[in-house]
Amino acid sequence: MFNLILFGPPGSGKGTQSEKLIAKYHLKHLSTGDLLRNEIAKQTPLGIEAKILMDKGNLVPDAVVIGMISDAIENNPGVEGFLFDGFPRTAIQADELDRLLSKKNTCINILLALKVSEEQLVQRLVKRGETSGRPDDHNEEVIRARIHEYNKKTATVCDHYQEKKKAAFIKGEGSVEEIFDRLCAEIDVLMKKNPS
Ligand code: AP5
Repeated sequence: MFNLILFGPPGSGKGTQSEKLIAKYHLKHLSTGDLLRNEIAKQTPLGIEAKILMDKGNLVPDAVVIGMISDAIENNPGVEGFLFDGFPRTAIQADELDRLLSKKNTCINILLALKVSEEQLVQRLVKRGETSGRPDDHNEEVIRARIHEYNKKTATVCDHYQEKKKAAFIKGEGSVEEIFDRLCAEIDVLMKKNPS
């Protein structure tokens, strides 16, 4: 299996690049943001609770997202690998992900972290907010709260994988195609070194 974390702050292009990467490398896309929005759309108790936090730009509790990811891993046996998008977002989530994968005799191969300036992140999300209907894109204050939450609680997840020499930083500015080529270059080198 080849398991990849696509990492970066809100608006760094994780969702955009994930779509292209899963098509090229035949990975199963697991986005905790999408899973949570799906719960909100279905108005489940979990979705109703999560929405209150998400609309303010806060993280939802670790136990909630870990439970969702654990179920998703269990429900997708036989895949060629997972692309985790928006997960893990805390040190606890990273430890738990390692544990869940090791139970399946696999592990994270690489975390690719997209680097984008804060001003560009805000610009992208304000623009998307004009049409997306996502409440957390709705005003700049919430967008900045999401970035603050990332800096405070999530950025450190990189250290967890850097200590294991499993993290690489990718310039996340430029055209979607240019960024995709940079991501693929990292993945291709790794896949050549560790053919499955
Ligand atoms: P989530 O859905 O994960 O959102 P996010 O991290 O805030 O990321 P976005 O979807 O906003 O941005 P992205 O990096 O995917 O960029 P995108 O490709 O969309 O999380 C939402 C919320 O759910 C969290 O705030 C939290 O409350 C909760 N949550 C989720 N996971 C959690 C977890 N593990 N633990 C706890 N809580 C959790 O691009 C953004 C925009 O930029 C788009 O309009 C796109 O078209 C544009 N764009 C992309 N690339 C480029 C480019 N190269 N040039 C110009 N524009 C570009």
